[in-house]
Amino acid sequence: MPISVQQHQFHLQTDHTSYLFHVMENGELGQLYYGQRIHDQPDYPDLTAREEHGAIPAWRLDRPDFQPETLKQEYASLGKGDYRDPAFQVTSPDGSRISEFRYQDYQIADGKQRLNGLPSTFATADDVQTLTVTLRDAVAQLTLALQYTVFPHQDVIVRSARFTNAGEQTLLLDRAMSSQLDLPDANYELMQFSGSWARERHLVCSPLHSGSQSIGSLRGASSHQQNPAMFLARPTTDEDHGAAFGFNLIYSGNFLDQVEVDAFDTARILIGINPEEFGWQLTPGETFQTPEAVLSYTTAGLNQLSQQMGEFYQHHLVNPHFAQTPRPVLINNWEGTYFNFDEAKLTAIASDAKDLGIEMFVLDDGWFGHRDDDTTSLGDWDVYAQKLPNGIAHLANKIHAMALKFGLWFEPEMISIDSDLYRAHPEWTVRTPHREMTPGRNQFVIDMANPEVVDYLYGKISRLIADAHLDYIKWDMNRNITEAYSPTLPAEQQMEFAHRYMLGVYQLYGRLTAAYPNVLFESCASGGGRFDLGMMAYAPQAWTSDDTDAVERLKIQFGTSYGYPQTMMGAHVSAVPNDQTGRITPIETRAAVAYFGDLGYELDVTKCSAIEKAAIKEQVAFYKAHRELFQQGKFYRLDSPFTGDGNVGSWQVVSADGKHAIAARYQVLNHPNPAYNRLYLRGLQPDQRYKIAGNDHVYYGDELMNAGVFIPHLQDSTEGIEESFDFSARLLVIDAVEK
Ligand code: DGJ
Repeated sequence: MPISVQQHQFHLQTDHTSYLFHVMENGELGQLYYGQRIHDQPDYPDLTAREEHGAIPAWRLDRPDFQPETLKQEYASLGKGDYRDPAFQVTSPDGSRISEFRYQDYQIADGKQRLNGLPSTFATADDVQTLTVTLRDAVAQLTLALQYTVFPHQDVIVRSARFTNAGEQTLLLDRAMSSQLDLPDANYELMQFSGSWARERHLVCSPLHSGSQSIGSLRGASSHQQNPAMFLARPTTDEDHGAAFGFNLIYSGNFLDQVEVDAFDTARILIGINPEEFGWQLTPGETFQTPEAVLSYTTAGLNQLSQQMGEFYQHHLVNPHFAQTPRPVLINNWEGTYFNFDEAKLTAIASDAKDLGIEMFVLDDGWFGHRDDDTTSLGDWDVYAQKLPNGIAHLANKIHAMALKFGLWFEPEMISIDSDLYRAHPEWTVRTPHREMTPGRNQFVIDMANPEVVDYLYGKISRLIADAHLDYIKWDMNRNITEAYSPTLPAEQQMEFAHRYMLGVYQLYGRLTAAYPNVLFESCASGGGRFDLGMMAYAPQAWTSDDTDAVERLKIQFGTSYGYPQTMMGAHVSAVPNDQTGRITPIETRAAVAYFGDLGYELDVTKCSAIEKAAIKEQVAFYKAHRELFQQGKFYRLDSPFTGDGNVGSWQVVSADGKHAIAARYQVLNHPNPAYNRLYLRGLQPDQRYKIAGNDHVYYGDELMNAGVFIPHLQDSTEGIEESFDFSARLLVIDAVEK
């Protein structure tokens, strides 16, 4: 059984990990251990041993050794001698802020319930077990339920907390983190995935040090700048060896991942809703449920950590309807036409795309209101008759008649001042009374905390889905929130706005995906500005970045791959010179990067030369032939573009049975007379014989992984690159051969 309970000690076991906590002498919960699996024992004296430290408060006069500041706690409060940042904070009506949550009881259930109103994980009864430990603060009459679901085979534990006001006074929840973990030492590298618009999720590593290090967002979205995924790895850990913890939060709004190293070199990890800009009025009888945090651990290196967490998301988070379903190769008109299109232009693109083997046409921004640029019409989700006089359904019929799927862009959470919606409902705009509104991309945010707004958007979008038989929706979100405030909330609840906004977004997503289970959603926020697990629960893929330059994408996709499987990454081939960088890269390289995700094209194919069209046709056929491998294969990072001068990057996908693999090695600039290059493959069967396409030699898997494959220097045109050897990509297609 994955959960065993002995004498108020809880031992959660996955196939390779143990997570242990217990009820301490003061009735609160103390943490004991999280790491490689250990045997179950009735007690662990070495984990509960205490020493008295000078000059810090102790619990009682007769227990000088029981000092909250030195305890490893499970879900700590502030104010009773533990001075580290707490997991939660409650204010009572008299202004007091002390809490003592004492253990009451526990329950173990097979399976896992989804959370109400929040994106969450799921599982069947034979898959997993869920432990709920109930604690109570007798003075505030507040109940706390800590929930843990153990997913044994992916070595994942999911945690959340639920507060219920069982008293008669309204309490204020100032902070409610999803998870706390107190590690006994701080000898870790913090790995975060940071950046900005068009250069999202670059890997940044720094050793833990005394004090707090945090990653977070106060933008109302998880953000381009920081991502909720965070790893802690031992300094010697690499992609293939060593211990590391992985953390993530199933949430898309303001978040905080924090590591605090204290005077005793312990590390406290807190994951949850950012307590800044958060507060929740808990009226009598009311419950507050935190989002879920995902925790995982391995001793087998970072590739293993990414793979087990990715597999977990695919099986227990992503809409099961799409998790294993092949994602269509699409063409999106955005970079091809921007706002400048009509029905003839769109159908011409679709028709050429169909000839090239593409499977879905996506109409991006500009089809509604009177939208010719980004200054107008958001909120008016009716066709722009001047551009598309026959309507969306008519266009969709034409596309469907070509045997292509049809997708449509929306930006539901936004409103333009120049829109009928704003003229009718200015009060639906997020704004603070008596304050100027700060524009972003010429637009404003609509109040998703207002249920009327959610109903309005559901009506508009669902009508279009039904009328045009949409197969796909791209859900964009092009600015962050400012002047956060909802006129629908009383003053004392304004601190709830950011979370209520997210609940409104989730409600809309939830209603649409439930009513139209066959519509594939792709989330987008100016590219990868909301690339998080909250979105993935509804939209199984996300537009990874607005930066489609192959060189830039190498870093973006490599960094993203730590926290998210490649099937979550929308990856498109666009025209050159690239719109974001002006760089001219070969179309082969652009495709070789985009293959390792959900492939799409984002250019005006009608303008492509015959040579380019032939290349695209070949690429689409190649991708379709290996689609399962590219989208669902185990992803291995081989050479990091974040090390050295960043000139080389490589990665690989391997089938579940280890018999098929495709590796890619990218080189940004070609240098003369370089070092001797080898590519060391991963994930193959050591005793299996393999061939690499275009090469007659038969290799054993152990040779490919340990001795590596020679990568010749590009120095003449026989490699197939005629104009430049810069920005090159080499693809290795590896298949098992029988003896
Ligand atoms: C930002 C997105 O990332 C782009 O792909 C495109 O949809 C534009 N918005 C449209 O305004």
